[in-house]
Amino acid sequence: LELQGLNFNLSEEHLAVQEAARDFAQNELFPGIVERDNEARFPAEQVKRMGELGFLGMMVSPDYGGGGMDTVAYVLAMEEISKIDASASVVMSVNNSLVCYGLEAFGTEEQKQKYLTRLASGETIGAFCLSEPEAGSDATSQATMAEDKGEYYLVNGTKNWITNGGSSGICLVIAQTDREKKHRGINCLIVEKGTPGFVVGKKEDKMGIRASDTHSLLFTDVHVPKENRIGEDGFGFKFAMSTLNGGRIGIAAQALGIAAGAYELALKYSQERKAFGKQIFDHQAIQFKLAEMVTKIEAARLLVYKAARLKDEHKDYVQAAAMAKLFASDVAMWATTEAVQIHGGYGYVKEFHVERLMRDAKITQIYEGTSEIQKLVIARELIR
Ligand code: CAA
Ligand code: FAD
Repeated sequence: LELQGLNFNLSEEHLAVQEAARDFAQNELFPGIVERDNEARFPAEQVKRMGELGFLGMMVSPDYGGGGMDTVAYVLAMEEISKIDASASVVMSVNNSLVCYGLEAFGTEEQKQKYLTRLASGETIGAFCLSEPEAGSDATSQATMAEDKGEYYLVNGTKNWITNGGSSGICLVIAQTDREKKHRGINCLIVEKGTPGFVVGKKEDKMGIRASDTHSLLFTDVHVPKENRIGEDGFGFKFAMSTLNGGRIGIAAQALGIAAGAYELALKYSQERKAFGKQIFDHQAIQFKLAEMVTKIEAARLLVYKAARLKDEHKDYVQAAAMAKLFASDVAMWATTEAVQIHGGYGYVKEFHVERLMRDAKITQIYEGTSEIQKLVIARELIR
């Protein structure tokens, strides 16, 4: 229904951003990608370049050093970068749509001057810390405490699975202040690395997006000044949910890119590989796989653009974002598996890249709300 009246015609600026992202991915992310994946090595230099090129604060106002672009430009860039390197694109996604967006939308002027400018330029990167060992989907059951001590909060607890956990300088930490108020007693605090008592814990050894650094973060009697709270007392859970609505568009675009990247490789390979005296593309079974892949990818793309456009037009995009993430992540998992199949045995080894994309695809069904949680969000919106 919302498709009516929406215009997907892309502007010159959109196309320029898309091309810049494509070039950057090809020229600067592709070299060394197999090694970074094997060694689970964070792409520090490449992330620095992303900052210089403006990919880390794309939607932030130029007043705070950002690119001042819209969500459509952001998803176009996310798609291109994810076609090659989903580890780099999750760094970008968390920084843009969770940390920068959250600060810009809900932070005070002082917080924006102090933190957002550094994040938008890529001088440092941010982390969004909601999940805990015992609280993933069930995000309101926070065990991390931020006790109100008057001038400051005293933070104790453990965050799990934190993307950019090792390499971030600024963390948005969700924690419980008042247990009786349940989710309305949760706060979001800006915590800088180096604050006494704040320690980076173990790095996860992952199936995919291996070059992104996922850590647990440990807080022991960490003093966080009151002025580092985002929003009113008790706004933290609403902050997390509101921010994740937009974050899900970023992850949907990541999934779309992974699927499209695998499709492009499979199409090319199908025209190179011969079996039974002809290109495998000329076997109808392979053509049908590619036809189905491109159709589902296009459908995912429409959902992603739709969610981005609704956000840009300040319309309700909660359900559209959840639909885009649900659908695009399933397409990513399915299409990458088909791409491996089209490559045969060569698809199962690292040098042809589709096996990495297949491993990378899986996470898009899990983080920023699992597929089951997206269905819950979509269903709740049906009767809201
Ligand atoms: N937008 C805005 N507000 C929302 C919201 C949304 N999508 N969903 C819920 N809320 C608000 C509700 O309005 C309610 O507030 P009020 O009571 O003040 O009205 C409050 O949040 C609690 O809502 P519910 O009663 O619906 O809460 P619930 O316990 O049933 O859980 C949930 C809701 C949707 C399941 C939520 O817990 C959730 O989204 N879980 C998934 C967590 C998640 O996505 N984690 C991602 C971590 S970040 C990450 O993963 C980054 C990365 O990998 C790169
Ligand atoms: P659980 O919530 O325990 O879920 C287990 C299973 O039960 C899932 O299939 C789930 O869908 C299902 N389930 C749970 N509840 C329901 C329900 N009500 N109805 C139906 N099914 C249900 N978190 C952050 O805060 N910041 C980050 O930067 C971040 N980065 C991440 C990076 C990686 C690589 C990974 C793996 C995770 C990251 N996460 C991050 C955490 C991520 O968001 C959670 O893993 C995710 O929300 C699921 O939580 P869980 O792992 O505790 O699974």
